[in-house]
Amino acid sequence: MSILVTGGTGYIGSHTVCELIQNGYEVVVIDNFSNSKRQVLTSIYEITGVKPTFYEGDVADITLLEEIFTKEKIDAVIHFAGFKAVGESVKEPLKYYQNNLESTLHLLAVMQKYHCQKFIFSSSATVYGDPASLPITEDFPLSTTNPYGTTKLMIEQILKDLYQVDPTMNITILRYFNPIGSEKSGRLGEDPNGIPNNLMPYIVRVATGKLPQLNVFGNDYDTKDGTGVRDYIHVVDLAKGHVKALDKLDAGLHIYNLGTGTGYSVLDIVKTFERVNYVSIPYQIVARRPGDIAACYADVTKAKKELGWQAELSIEDMCLDAYHYIEQANKRAD
Ligand code: NAD
Ligand code: UD1
Repeated sequence: MSILVTGGTGYIGSHTVCELIQNGYEVVVIDNFSNSKRQVLTSIYEITGVKPTFYEGDVADITLLEEIFTKEKIDAVIHFAGFKAVGESVKEPLKYYQNNLESTLHLLAVMQKYHCQKFIFSSSATVYGDPASLPITEDFPLSTTNPYGTTKLMIEQILKDLYQVDPTMNITILRYFNPIGSEKSGRLGEDPNGIPNNLMPYIVRVATGKLPQLNVFGNDYDTKDGTGVRDYIHVVDLAKGHVKALDKLDAGLHIYNLGTGTGYSVLDIVKTFERVNYVSIPYQIVARRPGDIAACYADVTKAKKELGWQAELSIEDMCLDAYHYIEQANKRAD
């Protein structure tokens, strides 16, 4: 079975490509390297012993998509490609609507033309907005507070509309909670350009001395220690969730939360990171970050019951592996 993975050299995509190859799938990747590096393809080869077929280009490029669907026998598509920085999406909304929506619309149109009916989409827990209660189940009301989140919600709606007119389609929407960590060898991971916005990449920069200290955004939330609580999930567990979703892909439109079901506070993460990696993470408490919510974690019953999937790796694994990747990357750069 041949799977087209859009954004397959990105953080989650590259981990998923490895899991797919290790589970016997043939993989075709398209990426324009707008937020990833060509070196990732070598890393995938080093980890799996297989070079996925690769097309460099934009998912919005219909001519290229047609070439891929003509040359490769694509049975299913996993669509990771898109921009994902919340703050940037507020400043440059058109860039986000254009890239995330146009690429998805063009991809779906070409899939339709080539009678490819299996589609897995990367959505986000951000579509739950500020949830009224916890844990969050898939039927919670949806809302967003920024253009990035709105693109996810709009694409979910597009998929629901498409399914209405073609109920033979197999569509799975996966709503990720907070992916962190890296695969064990330290060859793939997350190292954003510039100053990181997200917690784990920021902590890693502090641990390696590239940033002086972590700013903890608020300690006056209604949580166990006052700092924000999130459902962090190891990226390898998340990648495995895609393989399970693909194995299971049957006619219908299915939506699953992919998280662990457990919430950890910012200070839990800082303390665990310090303990398992034997480093110190100096921090100061600063004002809340606008738009942040107090707490967010998933009810993962549905994915467990219907996909037979649940996260297995611990918060200790996540902290160890995130640091290991950067240590290895820094060694490679020396
Ligand atoms: P990433 O930026 O590492 O990967 C996205 C990849 O897509 C990159 O390699 C980029 O070069 C590529 N890309 C972007 N636009 C493209 C286009 N038009 N054509 C071809 N390639 C394009 O991001 P990620 O963390 O791996 O996230 C993957 C998906 O999961 C995204 O859709 C993201 O919104 C979603 N998601 C991510 C998180 C997270 O915390 N990382 C959480 C929820 C949802
Ligand atoms: C962010 C995105 C969200 C996306 C999610 C998963 C924002 C506003 N939201 O969510 O859309 O779905 O990632 O990738 O970017 N924190 C600090 N100091 C820091 C960084 C973060 O204290 O320097 C705190 C935050 O206040 C929060 C927690 O750490 O309580 C996690 O933050 P982050 O990693 O940015 O993820 P989310 O805000 O959950």
